[in-house]
Formats: sequence, C-alpha cells, structure tokens
Amino acid sequence: MTDLNNNTAKGAVVPPPPSAADIAAANASIPDVPFEPKNFLAKFRLDGKVAVVTGGARGLGFSMAEGLCSVGLKGIAILDVQTDLGLDAIKKLHGAYGVQAQFYKVDVRDETAVNDIMDSIARDLGAIDIVVNSAGVADLVHAEEYPSEKFRRVIDINLNGSFLVTQAAAKHMIAQGRGGTIIFIASMSGSIVNWPQPQSAYNASKAAVKHLMKSLAAEWAVHRIRCNSISPGYMDTALNRSYTTLFNEWKDRTPLGRLGDPDELTGACIWLASESSAFCTGSDIVIDGGYTVL
Ligand SMILES: NC(=O)c1ccc[n+]([C@@H]2O[C@H](COP(=O)([O-])OP(=O)(O)OC[C@H]3O[C@@H](n4cnc5c(N)ncnc54)[C@H](O)[C@@H]3O)[C@@H](O)[C@H]2O)c1
Repeated sequence: MTDLNNNTAKGAVVPPPPSAADIAAANASIPDVPFEPKNFLAKFRLDGKVAVVTGGARGLGFSMAEGLCSVGLKGIAILDVQTDLGLDAIKKLHGAYGVQAQFYKVDVRDETAVNDIMDSIARDLGAIDIVVNSAGVADLVHAEEYPSEKFRRVIDINLNGSFLVTQAAAKHMIAQGRGGTIIFIASMSGSIVNWPQPQSAYNASKAAVKHLMKSLAAEWAVHRIRCNSISPGYMDTALNRSYTTLFNEWKDRTPLGRLGDPDELTGACIWLASESSAFCTGSDIVIDGGYTVL
C-alpha cells in the first residue's frame, strides 16, 4: 500500500547537486549588465492609458479613478447609474488632472448596453487598457426572510455585472492584442462572514467575484490580460457612517482601531493597473486594517 505521507512514495525527487560546469553555465547565461540606479517609480505611471471604472461616480470607485488619473492616464470612462454624480465626477477628474473624462450611464446588468458602451469608449477615448469593477450593492436582511428577488439583485450586480463589463472589455483587449489589466473590488466579506449584520447575498457575491477573478486570470493569461482583486475591510464612507449602531463595533473589531480611508486603497489599485505589477495575476489584496487576521 502506498504511504501518502511519504514524499518519496508521492514521487518527489531530490535533484543531484549542480556540477561546477552547470553553475558556470548558469552564471554565463545571466547577461552582464552594468549596475545602474533603476527608476522603479516610473513603472507605476499610466501615461497614455485608458481606464474604465464602474461605480466610479462616487465612493471607492471615484477614489480609485482619481488615483489612476493622478499617475498620467490619457482617458477615463466612468460607468454608473447615477447621472448627476457621474457628470460631477468627470468634471472633477478633468479639472484636476486634465485627463479626457467621459461619463456613460449604464446598469452593469444590461449586457447589450454594456457591450455598446465599451465600443463607444474605444471610439471616444481609445483602446481600453484598464478596468476597475467597483459598482456594487449590499443589503442587510436575515437569510430566512430574504426575498429571492432581492437576493438575486445583489448577485446580479456584484457578480454578473462585474463579469459582463469584464467580458465586454476583454473582447476589445483581445482584439487589440496588447493585453490589459482588470481589477475587481471584492471585499473581505468574500473570505470571512461579517458580524453582527446579516448579509448572506453580499458575502456570497464577493466570494464568487474572487473566484471569477482567478478563473479569468488563468484563462486570459495567454492574452496578457491580468486579473486581480482588492478586498477592502470596513471603509470610512458616508454610507458606513450612517450605520451609527454598527460603526463603533466595526471599529473595535478592526485591529488598527479605525475604518479605512478610501484613498488607502488607491496605491494598490495603481500598482495593479500598472507595469509595476507585471508578474501579478490571480491575486487578491486584502486591505482591512487587520480585520481578517483575527
Ligand atoms: N465601503 C466599504 O466599506 C466596502 C468594503 C468592501 C468592499 N466594498 C465594495 O467596494 C465597491 C464600492 O463600494 P462603495 O462603498 O464605494 O459604494 P457606493 O454605494 O458609494 O458606490 C457604488 C457605486 O456603484 C454604483 N452602482 C450600483 N449599482 C450599479 C449598477 N447596477 N450599475 C452601475 N453602477 C451601479 C452606484 O450608483 C454607486 O455610484 C462595492 O463593490 C462594494 O461592495 C466596499
């Protein structure tokens, strides 16, 4: 009977030590370049790139859109259902960063509209390089009372909507043949269950978003399309502040003792959008003040 705890039985192999000739050949294969200072920061720049940000009219999406604009974007498309906020967002981004900014009113669940808008973006702003999927909703309902249409709505926006936008953008990226980078805003709720509020649909949707991201990362690596996610913990947004009874509990349960500033996600977003993360795909970056370590 095979001993599965025995590495030898599983076929592990200890290679023979490299010979002096192998070591000399390996050393010779590394190009002898003069040692000079490198500009690592330059790899974070996004000069000439075009980004699409869903849910970018406000909140975390707007904050990440601003971060991308601050490092040289050529164009940004804000996709959202809220027209007034969307128009205000592009005015601010163009005014502050000089970037070409367009707002497109769309519900991310609407496949036809999403595909049409992606064509418009490519025409209006140029080839799409970056997508940030931030459009999302949550509701707090006890599972035994959750109306099925409400449960479906959360999954439909957070999961299916992210897929439809990503698929539409990826078709362009594949046709362009120059790769791209896609960032999903998941949540720590995709790996832990938030407490004490009941949010089963939201938690399930975010776990699914993370696994969708990994699946697409595997499929589209061949097209040089990188897919990653950011999983925020509790962020200090107006909506979260409005939950006055929960706010302090969330703060107390977070090891850093506070909620996160939306701008504290921006560095990771810029990194994932840029060449500085060129070897990173299929990864989830948790930014939660330590919440999920406990
Ligand atoms: N705020 C947090 O503490 C927190 C924590 C973890 C993850 N997240 C995630 O970050 C993302 C942004 O959250 P936020 O706090 O900025 O929320 P928010 O409500 O401030 O912003 C979400 C935006 O998405 C838009 N939107 C909603 N449904 C849409 C649809 N069907 N089609 C197009 N646009 C739609 C809204 O109009 C809004 O502008 C969400 O995916 C959320 O789940 C937030």
